[in-house]
Amino acid sequence: MTVLAGAGVVVTGGGAGIGAALARRFAAAGARVVVNDLDPDASHAVAADIDAVALPGDAATEAGVAALISGARAALGEVDVYCANAGIGEGVGLDASEEAWEHSWDVNVMAHVRAARLLTPAWLARGRGHLVTTVSAAGLLTMLDASAYAVTKHAAYAFAEWMAITYGAKGITVQAVCPRGVRTALLDASGPAARLLLDDDALAPEQVADTVVDAVAAGAPFLILPHPEVARMYAGRAADPDRWLTGMRKLQGRLDQAREG
Ligand SMILES: NC(=O)c1ccc[n+]([C@@H]2O[C@H](COP(=O)([O-])OP(=O)(O)OC[C@H]3O[C@@H](n4cnc5c(N)ncnc54)[C@H](O)[C@@H]3O)[C@@H](O)[C@H]2O)c1
Repeated sequence: MTVLAGAGVVVTGGGAGIGAALARRFAAAGARVVVNDLDPDASHAVAADIDAVALPGDAATEAGVAALISGARAALGEVDVYCANAGIGEGVGLDASEEAWEHSWDVNVMAHVRAARLLTPAWLARGRGHLVTTVSAAGLLTMLDASAYAVTKHAAYAFAEWMAITYGAKGITVQAVCPRGVRTALLDASGPAARLLLDDDALAPEQVADTVVDAVAAGAPFLILPHPEVARMYAGRAADPDRWLTGMRKLQGRLDQAREG
């Protein structure tokens, strides 16, 4: 269990979408919030709304993560909950550029590793800390037309799992958030595959934030699924990979057909 009233919470990518909803919901629960975003205006606007501290900047690079964590420690004392939420969807297929792969790797994976590296020693020393990573159902299943996204989100999930195993018995709580579609700018920009697969069941960012903040307060489960059906899909993929691939190929075929007109 993590007591949220008075807790120091950092949300990366908190200027928009799921991150902004998380920042607002944590503030409503009485947490002292740091709102990070690459976009300074967005970061300041959300922070001003909820009486939080804005620390804009890049939450993925080694220097950016270090600056964010030292700024957050100065503002909050220690960080109680770190939400590595910022993420990007770049690169469609095999033609995705080296830069798109590198950028996806940096923001979707290394941002989590870099933050954990800096936070974990202090958390171990005081016997508690809480890392929440926004992964995606794409990290448990896949995402059509999003090669770099699907692969890096799998890596993000693997890192969260590794952290939970390595430090879970030492006072550090780790949780991975794996939604399907959420109505944000990222979903709007993800093209026909997102519309085919996700639009009908897409949640509002506030609905995701409600589920996440309740689970953070409870300290469980590890795998936070705002769309509960993902558990069944994930189990189906593991139980019979060939059957799962056949189903996914059908969806890919529908997508190819829709694109061809
Ligand atoms: N929207 C969906 O359907 C969906 C589904 C599953 C998972 N997710 C994940 O949720 C997270 C949030 O996505 P969203 O849909 O709210 O996207 P969004 O694009 O609406 O918001 C993301 C925010 O992160 C910021 N950002 C990007 N790179 C950053 C960086 N390096 N440092 C700091 N801030 C940065 C952007 O400026 C933006 O304000 C991502 O990790 C995404 O992969 C989204």
